[in-house]
Amino acid sequence: MATTTTQLLSTVTHRDTLPEGYARPESDRPRLAEVATDSNIPLIDLASPDKPRVIAEIALACRTYGFFQVTNHGIAEELLEKVMAVALEFFRLPPEEKEKLYSDEPSEKIRLSTSFNVKKETVHNWRDYLRLHCHPLEEFVPEWPSNPAQFKEIMSTYCREVRQLGLRLLGAISLSLGLEEDYIENVLGDQEQHMAVNYYPRCPEPDLTYGLPKHTDPNALTILLPDPNVAGLQVLRDGGQWIAVNPLAPNALIINLGDQIQALSNGAYKSVWHRAVVNASQERMSVASFLCPCNSAVISPARKLVAHGDEPVYRSYTYDEYYKKFWSRNLDQEHCLELFR
Ligand code: SIN
Ligand code: FE2
Repeated sequence: MATTTTQLLSTVTHRDTLPEGYARPESDRPRLAEVATDSNIPLIDLASPDKPRVIAEIALACRTYGFFQVTNHGIAEELLEKVMAVALEFFRLPPEEKEKLYSDEPSEKIRLSTSFNVKKETVHNWRDYLRLHCHPLEEFVPEWPSNPAQFKEIMSTYCREVRQLGLRLLGAISLSLGLEEDYIENVLGDQEQHMAVNYYPRCPEPDLTYGLPKHTDPNALTILLPDPNVAGLQVLRDGGQWIAVNPLAPNALIINLGDQIQALSNGAYKSVWHRAVVNASQERMSVASFLCPCNSAVISPARKLVAHGDEPVYRSYTYDEYYKKFWSRNLDQEHCLELFR
C-alpha cells in the first residue's frame, strides 16, 4: 500500500461496505453475539484508607484477570474530559493537516497512522491512531501536533499525571507480589512512556473486522482512558470466553498488565489477550498510555518468585530485543513471550 493519507479511515466520512483488505476470514471474526457483557473486572478504589486491602485486590485482579479498573486515581475528571475532547478534535482536522504527520514506520516517535502495522499485516484493522513518545516530555512535546492549539498543553499535563499514577501502580504491583515497593521500577529503569490516541470510525460491517485484533501489550503497564459512551474493549478469559470491559464508574481508568510484568512475575501475573471491536452506529475513541522498560533494561523473572530448585519460566532478555521481536511479527500471532521461554 502506498503511504498516503488516503489510507486514514478518518478522512472519509461515510461508507456502505468494508473496503478491500479489512475483512477477516470466517474463522477469525469477532462473533459479537457470543461476547459476555457481565464482566466482573475488579474496580479498585485507590483512595481507600485500607492499603493492605488495596494491595490484596490488585494481587487478585492481576492473577485472575490481568485487568482492573481504578477510581479515585488522582487525575481530575475535567482533565480526562479535555483529553477526550482534544483527541476527537485532532481526528476531525482536515486531511491535509493530518497528512503531515502520517507514517507507517513503527520506529518513528511521533506519527499518525492507521490499522496497526500496515507494512507487515495481511488484513487491516478499523483504526486510526496517533502514536507519541512522551518521556522526557521536554524532548518530545515541541514536535507534537500544534493543531488543535490546546493539544500540547492538555496532553502533556495528562502524560505527567498518568506517569505518576503508573509508577504508583507499579509500586503497588511490586508489593502485591511480595517484592520491595521499588523492585519493578528499579528493573525497568528510566521508563519510556508512549501514548496511542485511538480513533475507531463507524464501521459498515463490524462483524467482519476489528479495531484491534487479539493481542497482548508488549510493555509493562497500560493505562487506558476509555470512551465514556461507547464500548469496544474486550478481554479473553481462561476457557476462551470474550468479555466486554466497560467503564464501571465515571472517570474509571482501565489498567492492564503487559508482557514485561508477566515475565518479571515468572508467569504469576498475566498479560491477557484483549481486542477492540467496532460498531456501525458510533465512532469510538480511547487513549492508551504505556509504561515501557528502558531499552537496556534486563528483564528476567524475580528470583524471589522462582520456587527453590525450579527453572525460571522465562529466560532473561533486554527490552530492546523484546520490542524488536514484537514489531517484526503480526499483532495477533502467538503470545510474544512464548519466544522467550
Ligand atoms: C489497546 O488494546 O491498545 C486499545 C484498546 C481500546 O481501544 O480499548
Ligand atoms: Fe492493547
